[in-house]
Amino acid sequence: MKFEDLERGIHYIDAGFRGVIQVAVLRMTYVSMVNYTYLVVDNITNQSVIVDPAWNMEKVDHALEDTGTKLSGILLTHAHPDHTDLARPLAEKYHCPVWMSNEEIMDSGFYAPHLVGIDSRPWSVGQIQIQPILTPGHTPGGMCYHIGDNLFTGDTLFAEGCGLCSDMEAAHEMYESLEHLKSRLKPDTLIFPGHSYGRQPGQKFSQVLRDNIYLQFKNKHDFTAYRLRKGQNRLSFFDFR
Ligand SMILES: [Fe+2]
Repeated sequence: MKFEDLERGIHYIDAGFRGVIQVAVLRMTYVSMVNYTYLVVDNITNQSVIVDPAWNMEKVDHALEDTGTKLSGILLTHAHPDHTDLARPLAEKYHCPVWMSNEEIMDSGFYAPHLVGIDSRPWSVGQIQIQPILTPGHTPGGMCYHIGDNLFTGDTLFAEGCGLCSDMEAAHEMYESLEHLKSRLKPDTLIFPGHSYGRQPGQKFSQVLRDNIYLQFKNKHDFTAYRLRKGQNRLSFFDFR
């Protein structure tokens, strides 16, 4: 496998277990928007799962070709279109499950072929052990996925901020979700968010914990006052920090 495929906009990161698991970072673009999709690769059984696929199908095809893996499932952190755009065509093409939290399916009405509602129970795809962590706040059923020492966070946690919250209740939930992540992540866990605002995906949690202002608040009231401060674009799916 190539470790860099810059021409194709794909970057590979060794994600633990002595190279058994790798993460292909796919930078996806649509008009002026940029999202990160991740292909998690199991080099033993030659299977992969993809996180939040959107927009650039050719990059998914190239990453599958580069890694020589078969797509065995689609993990969705939440239902916003910039995270789910390719879920339906990929599920049809590869006849693989699409996983989303039961809460998010209920709240959003999202549908895709082979859609499977999940709770917090873990499961495995080959060597890839997937531990979902329910993290409401940006959306009512937002899910992070813990795979080895890697966390795929969608719009819950960015290196530089956290996802937008629509109201006070949502911001309280976001605070609790971030506190929950702080209580269970190891310093060396790599963070793979849905968006970047300057830092490369795959930052260590210890660094994010130190630098991210949203992880510094000591109570939900101060957190909420800051998250809902004036000047935030509350109408956009795509706003973030
Ligand atoms: Fe979102």
